[in-house]
Amino acid sequence: MGDSNEMETKNIGLRGIKVADTRISDINGAQGKLIYRGYNIMDLTENSSYEETAYLLLHDSLPSMKELSVFRSMISEARFIPKQMQKNMGNWRKDADPMDMLQAFVAALAGYYDEEFSSKEASYERAINLIAKVPTIVASWQRIRNDMELIEPDPSLSHAANFLYMMSGEKPDKDVERIFDVCLILHAEHTFNASTFTARQVASTRAHMYSAASAAIGSLSGELHGGANYEVMKMLLDIGHVEKAGSWIKERVARNERVMGMGHAVYKTFDPRARVLKEMSRQLAAKTGQPWFAITEGVEEATIAEIKRKKSMDIYPNVDLYSASIYYMLDIPMDLNTPIFAISRVAGWAAHVIEEKFAEAAPKPALYRPKAVYVGKDCGPDGCEYKPINLRT
Ligand code: ACO
Repeated sequence: MGDSNEMETKNIGLRGIKVADTRISDINGAQGKLIYRGYNIMDLTENSSYEETAYLLLHDSLPSMKELSVFRSMISEARFIPKQMQKNMGNWRKDADPMDMLQAFVAALAGYYDEEFSSKEASYERAINLIAKVPTIVASWQRIRNDMELIEPDPSLSHAANFLYMMSGEKPDKDVERIFDVCLILHAEHTFNASTFTARQVASTRAHMYSAASAAIGSLSGELHGGANYEVMKMLLDIGHVEKAGSWIKERVARNERVMGMGHAVYKTFDPRARVLKEMSRQLAAKTGQPWFAITEGVEEATIAEIKRKKSMDIYPNVDLYSASIYYMLDIPMDLNTPIFAISRVAGWAAHVIEEKFAEAAPKPALYRPKAVYVGKDCGPDGCEYKPINLRT
């Protein structure tokens, strides 16, 4: 009997289906609130750092001064990646997509650090290794594909500053470091979004954390998920001038195409992360005199108006709309927008993998195995007759 024979209903895209308990984060889609381990994201962006936020996500409580200092040291010591891995990167095509590179090399980490995967303590070590090494992989690829010398991590720098330094060769000033740090805090976790659910699903088979993170990176790369921030920047460049935003969006909506960076599966109001990013984009544009904030705001306003007119519904910006212009104004190559999302989100993925594998309270997570609705050929109880290839017409 097939999976679907006794099923009468199906849920497209699992919207609204509850599959597991989590202590890690919560979204109130109607109020536009995001909570990491009980703490409002707005408080964290004002007061915390990425390192502290990552600690919170992994450990369920904010660290003491000493705990944070130990955590920072563990991350900075784990930033190096094997030289052999960097050598291997040199064999890739220079125009390879950085997300494909990242996915491959995160999976490859297991081959270098595969001592012991089964305990909870080992999973925390893997989590630190991933948080520390994902930025190094991204920065290394940026240098290698541009025939530039590799830059060693600098243990005196924060997570945010160190990545920018390893990528560009320049140490950022305090303002740039803080803007980038806030971007990392905002992208670190978001309940059961597509990539996190992917990570949890892989972890539910008891596969190791590198496998789960690598699969999650593949999931994040799609344009309906993390890939949207790259598509947003392509759109802004294509529009080119704030006065063209209205007509550009009108034509796109008329063709029934989606506007990247707008809309969300859970938020039915302004995404709180987009609020913070919008302000930072506004500030950077004022400082640099660049047009990208104004064009993005034009896109936001035109999309809201067009979707309202065409579909009588409200639509709001998501996290990807304003992050694109911020990264562009920070001189980050636009195809690194999505890898930067992964640099941040890996903390959330790791926390979920640990929760998926080691949750102590009932109901404990189980191997994910949804049902399918079979709508294929039905040739009766014995199935279709198999004809040898030479008898098929
Ligand atoms: N542009 C144009 N129309 C849209 C958009 C958009 N960005 N988003 C939703 N709509 C329309 C849909 O076409 C749909 O209309 P229809 O019913 O006539 O087909 C209607 O709004 C309702 O959409 P929903 O079903 O509520 O949205 P859904 O939950 O399926 O989609 C999603 C959420 C995938 C994020 C969608 O808004 C989208 O495609 N946005 C653009 C891609 C994007 O920015 N992704 C990043 C999301 S955030 C993240 O993953 C990090």
